[in-house]
Amino acid sequence: MPKPVFVILGATGNQGGSVVFHFLSESAYSLRVVTRDPFSPKALALAAQGIEVVSGNFDDPSSLDAAFKNASLIFSMTDFWSLMTSDTLRKKADASGISPGFYIRDCEAQQNRNIIDAAARVETLERFIFSSLPNVTELSGGKYRHVYHFDSKSTAGGTSVLYAGLYLENFLGESKALFCPKLKGNTLVAASSQPLTMAKIPWFSVVNDTGSLVAALISSAPGKNLIGVSEWLSLQDIWTILAQTLKKDIEFVDDISSDFGQGDPEIKRDREEMMGFLIEFGFDGGRNDQTFMRPEDLNISVKLQSVRDWIEKQDWSDL
Ligand SMILES: NC(=O)c1ccc[n+]([C@@H]2O[C@H](COP(=O)([O-])OP(=O)(O)OC[C@H]3O[C@@H](n4cnc5c(N)ncnc54)[C@H](OP(=O)(O)O)[C@@H]3O)[C@@H](O)[C@H]2O)c1
Repeated sequence: MPKPVFVILGATGNQGGSVVFHFLSESAYSLRVVTRDPFSPKALALAAQGIEVVSGNFDDPSSLDAAFKNASLIFSMTDFWSLMTSDTLRKKADASGISPGFYIRDCEAQQNRNIIDAAARVETLERFIFSSLPNVTELSGGKYRHVYHFDSKSTAGGTSVLYAGLYLENFLGESKALFCPKLKGNTLVAASSQPLTMAKIPWFSVVNDTGSLVAALISSAPGKNLIGVSEWLSLQDIWTILAQTLKKDIEFVDDISSDFGQGDPEIKRDREEMMGFLIEFGFDGGRNDQTFMRPEDLNISVKLQSVRDWIEKQDWSDL
């Protein structure tokens, strides 16, 4: 009896990579990953682990039909940021007269429609897990309309939805400058402005825990909308844990000089309105929408890494 096929999108990235890692050790499914380039080093590394690697592009529905053939499960995600930083799409946006943020929001929404439509054509499909973000325009009653990378994922629906919280991995890599305090002598200096850095935000490790969250959705009845969260903490809470871990003092300076847009006014507007929404309404819009669930609401055990444990396991030597 062949094993059910689990098709994973974004497997060369954070979310999909975590799903692959989680399910690789389970013998229940035959994993198939979809990439634009089956010969990239990451795709070759997946193939070397015995995973079926197929070519597919979210912009090309026929490639998705081929990639989804005989699938029992599909994990779906799309990547706003590679679209937002694409020169080609920015030029197309300029030529269209539509602002880049709205133009690219609609490009990602179209990718999600392509994926959902292709999934709907799969007769063998038992479960579709859709990585999304809340619709900020709707939840804020139109107050915040420029959180493009949230609204772009909410025009689509799925049988099981994962609303990914903020990545703890934002404290590393390229986004580190936006999130991390600076170490001066024996003191962590955190540029803190309130209420921005006091708002409780859902955090999780995308690398460690996306797979567990997806597994929890698969074990639950279809139709659940799960927030991907290990802990709801403010930035100040996280900086305090970081200082405790590093055995440093911490100083909060009432100043926020970070450029949220990293030089791009459209990205700046998106991120500033996102923070405004999180402060004023909360990630789940103040729980006005009762369909948002937290892992503890699923009534099954979902083991997620604590923020402190995640912080303790990272290398902070270049702070
Ligand atoms: N940063 C945060 O705190 C946060 C929180 C919640 C949600 N998010 C959302 O998470 C998303 C990014 O997820 P991630 O971190 O997993 O991304 P990532 O690590 O940058 O990886 C992107 C993945 O998407 C695939 N991909 C991109 N465009 C594709 C296309 N046209 N066709 C097929 N595959 C494509 C890439 O595959 P190939 O390159 O192999 O084709 C790659 O596997 C963003 O949309 C963001 O809004 C971020």
